[in-house]
Amino acid sequence: MSLDPLPHQSPATTDGDFRVKDLSLADWGRSEIELAEREMPGLMALREIHGGAKPLAGARITGSLHMTLQTAVLIETLVELGAQVRWSSCNIFSTQDHAAAAIAMGKTGSPGQPRGVPVFAWKAETLDEYWELLDLSLRFSGGRGPNLIVDDGGDATLMIHLGLKAEADPAMLDQTAESEDETALLRRLKMIRAEDPKRWFRTVTQWYGVSEETTTGVHRLHKMAKEGSLLVPAINVNDSVTKSKFDNLYGCRESLLDGIKRATGVMVAGKIAVVCGFGDVGKGCAQSLRGMGARVIVTEIDPICALQAAMEGYQVAKVEDFLDQGDIFITATGCVDAISARQLSLMKSGAIVCNIGHFDHEIDIAGLKRIPGIRRVNVKPQVDRWVFPDGREIILLAEGRLVNLGCAQGHPSFVMSASFTNQVLAQLALWAERTKASPGVRVLPRRLDEEVARLHLDKLGVRLTTLDARQADYLGLDADGPFKSDSYRY
Ligand code: NAD
Ligand code: ADE
Repeated sequence: MSLDPLPHQSPATTDGDFRVKDLSLADWGRSEIELAEREMPGLMALREIHGGAKPLAGARITGSLHMTLQTAVLIETLVELGAQVRWSSCNIFSTQDHAAAAIAMGKTGSPGQPRGVPVFAWKAETLDEYWELLDLSLRFSGGRGPNLIVDDGGDATLMIHLGLKAEADPAMLDQTAESEDETALLRRLKMIRAEDPKRWFRTVTQWYGVSEETTTGVHRLHKMAKEGSLLVPAINVNDSVTKSKFDNLYGCRESLLDGIKRATGVMVAGKIAVVCGFGDVGKGCAQSLRGMGARVIVTEIDPICALQAAMEGYQVAKVEDFLDQGDIFITATGCVDAISARQLSLMKSGAIVCNIGHFDHEIDIAGLKRIPGIRRVNVKPQVDRWVFPDGREIILLAEGRLVNLGCAQGHPSFVMSASFTNQVLAQLALWAERTKASPGVRVLPRRLDEEVARLHLDKLGVRLTTLDARQADYLGLDADGPFKSDSYRY
């Protein structure tokens, strides 16, 4: 079967103030959310601590973050703390439809009378649907926008900033887009402008902040802050130690292979795996591949990370050195074109290629599609063979988007509990300071980071040593922490 592009079927369920694939999946979703809750002690503790006082009462929160079972626990925690919430996914392939259905239905709802949280997401959205669903998640009643955003990758933040700019300068919506994704965003913004020329102006007057989940989104925020265009205070959740040193590293260590295995069933032992990027995500990927018996090659641009990889015993090389030998290629760089279309065309036939970084341009998929005579043969959802004119082929997973969420279920609940506990603490901070803070990017204080870790110790049976007064005095620390300076790197 040769398909290009794949035909798309829109989901049927669109009634009510939500859009999900199939509401009848809600009971299944609810059972799995209950399992996830048992593995998310940080979020459950926040419900215990703050559920009574409802510190987020009055806050309208939009989330643009993978609509998974773990995110469902985050959403219901925000609601339990008093917030009004609307949600969309930050990736066209990452939604778990049963989780979305359970959230739309709510604990007390029924298919005839859903009573849950307005969620706008399904697995395998088109790009136009993606931006429409994000748009819907930003629309609260009375023509109002959110007060706070939970962003993952920065698309919600981008939509508001670009939308506002275009209200002053509509011609910018006619600019030539650099990608299909940007084309779809500009198309959506044009529709919004035609319908409501002051929509984003109204939105930003009551927008008090954003908490950003991932490395790539944080890069975008820093860029805006540097240019002076960032409109709101932003909390960089990614760089809480209990996020990037756990989710990015240990999360990917488990979910990368889950994605590759579900997609291809390939035997990893004995294969040559090339990991592009040896940051937090790349370190987790390399470790799991080696653990399963692969021979791992690392590529890096940063001499420090390259040296770290070498000291861990990995061969550090250039992608081009291993094109004819690599069996599995993984990008984890947050960069563009870590693997170019030409490099794809020179790979050993049958090589598996995937990306675990945030967007779909780490591997030049757009360039791959433009190769004259190339054919796309769909194997199953999110798995394609791309056959070159000479008959050789590569196996591309999730169309070059996050393989762990596109081809599997993302990270396990326990590690997401640490990430999302930071998210809730960030939302609490942004809401508490909503009239005072100015635009800029910051991280949560180390004390809170340590608290997030502390909330996850019991579940693992960890017994922590406590400093006595003499020891605390000797180290110049408070016995309750913080235990490290802000510059400590872990
Ligand atoms: P990081 O900055 O710690 O690591 C990226 C590494 O890639 C750096 O060491 C950098 O030097 C290297 N690099 C950059 N360009 C390169 C190139 N062209 N070739 C080779 N190496 C290059 O970032 P991270 O926290 O590891 O995140 C990496 C990506 O993964 C980001 O896009 C992030 O948003 C995403 N992420 C994904 C998940 C997931 O669940 N899939 C989880 C966390 C983060
Ligand atoms: N990012 C990685 N894994 C995830 C998950 N399970 N849920 C939400 N975001 C994620």
